[in-house]
Amino acid sequence: QRSTLFPYTTLFRSVGKIDELEKALGQMPDGNLCIGHTRWATHGGVTQENAHPHLSCDGKISLVHNGIVENWRELRSGLDDHNFLSETDTEVLVHLIEKNYHGDLRLAVAEALRQVRGTYGIAVVHADHPDELVTARFGSPIVIGVAQEEYFVASDATPLLPYTNQVVFLNDGELVLLKRKGMEMTTLGLDHLKIETQNLDWSLSQAEKNGHEHFMKKEIFEEPEALMNAISGRIDLKNGTARLGGLNLSESEMRQIRRVIFIGCGTALYAARVGKYAFERLAQIPTEVEIASEFRYMDPIIDEHTLVFALSQSGETADTLAAMREAKRRGAIVRGIVNTIGSTIAREAGGGTYIHAGPELAVASTKAFINMAAVAVLYALMFGRNRSLSMATGVRVVTALMELPEKIKKILAESEHIQSVADKYAHYHNMYFLGRGVNYATALEASLKLKEVSYIHSEAYPGGEMKHGPIALLSTDFPVFAIATRNQLFDKTVSNIAEARARKAPIIALVSEDEKDFTAADDVIFVPRTMELFEPILNTVATQLFAYYVAVKLGRDVDRPRNLAKSVTVE
Ligand code: M6R
Repeated sequence: QRSTLFPYTTLFRSVGKIDELEKALGQMPDGNLCIGHTRWATHGGVTQENAHPHLSCDGKISLVHNGIVENWRELRSGLDDHNFLSETDTEVLVHLIEKNYHGDLRLAVAEALRQVRGTYGIAVVHADHPDELVTARFGSPIVIGVAQEEYFVASDATPLLPYTNQVVFLNDGELVLLKRKGMEMTTLGLDHLKIETQNLDWSLSQAEKNGHEHFMKKEIFEEPEALMNAISGRIDLKNGTARLGGLNLSESEMRQIRRVIFIGCGTALYAARVGKYAFERLAQIPTEVEIASEFRYMDPIIDEHTLVFALSQSGETADTLAAMREAKRRGAIVRGIVNTIGSTIAREAGGGTYIHAGPELAVASTKAFINMAAVAVLYALMFGRNRSLSMATGVRVVTALMELPEKIKKILAESEHIQSVADKYAHYHNMYFLGRGVNYATALEASLKLKEVSYIHSEAYPGGEMKHGPIALLSTDFPVFAIATRNQLFDKTVSNIAEARARKAPIIALVSEDEKDFTAADDVIFVPRTMELFEPILNTVATQLFAYYVAVKLGRDVDRPRNLAKSVTVE
């Protein structure tokens, strides 16, 4: 609601989705400077009082904050004479700035931030300085978009694309004063720093829906081209290998690697499982996949022979970044597999590979999964060929990879059928996804996608695990989606389907296209055959479409599901 409490500032806040705020705003008020923030609640309830911006007692200073102020209690105890109106950790920041303000906003912000422990990406304005905005970062990303006589401040580069390709990424401990004419970058000690502007190699049309109803659908349909972009120039068919310059390791250094660890969150984590499978198969290197938010607090056994890959679409995920820093601190060689160019993980990784999926705007990650998995396999292939993998096998892997974009197109052409299956199952409240071997990654990703866009409860299990407990839930109203493409575990999967059917669970099966006489399921989705290693890539295209159409059938806000953020920049 519009607030009349503060005489100098027009303040609008609302709970829930951005549409609510748009309603409250009505027409955009006049002005040349504006800050706003969709806050993912960390301290205090989801209420209007806790929504950002927060204001100083005199109402002149407004601030938005992404991150967490860890020492807020301690700081608040020194601000007894200030009037707090929210339960947030953030509000302490604006009062601290007010306490330190003596006519110079930048100085006050720097003073205040020097006392803060925790993470922040902030934007601050003052009613007496209508042409100034101060932004600073520590632990939470800040990127400044530089357009014609305009600046934009955001936590992720992608939303800036409609306005500009010129961006400045802030590093931790950097502060920028944006003025009507120009900007100045300093440290928190106000030592001046050189500003480096980067060009984002993404076009505006990539950030538009281009006739699709939702970004999610558009991004799924971009997968053939996105995958081509990830592999082109990086494969060597003749020698059956890959060439990824960003690894920055010599052949002998590559041979010193004894262990590989993949870290990531959500979809990136499941793409990493494909990497594990590939590294163990092709390069015979023991490989683990670790949840970044756990890894950062574990006692991982790491040495200079450990290679850690951090996977991230946004390149800004706080948990992945922290885990990556921890791995570095412990002496591992760290590399990034990242989509967003210039993002923090990309900058800090010390090397790695961009997946070139193009901007991903839907909250649900789709094309990034495909490209991350493909790049992880390319790394495995490169390490394999550097060791004992035969050229013939290498050539087979590269050939299979090159065929994938066309095969993805075939799945996309089946979208109407997938939609009809999705329509049939959209009314269920639960679903299991079963997948064995490398397709356990497919099942995990399929389950995540379904739950985040449709809000249907789902879980993923390797088929063999069902009898150890999960099967207890199966009944006529608890369907099973089985990933049953033809591979070494096909017969086992078919047995798992039979077990579920015996408990009267409705069954959908994802089956290789040459199994036309497959009768073990109620509904079948066919996908082209590929090498087992690449099955998660093809199979996931089908499960993404399934999740998408279920969400559409249920009338969900597909691109912006409730409670989720595109870049999770807080712990
Ligand atoms: O940007 P990242 O790849 O690091 O993001 C990781 C997860 O937050 C992300 O994959 C999330 O799980 C998506 N909502 C999945 O669709």
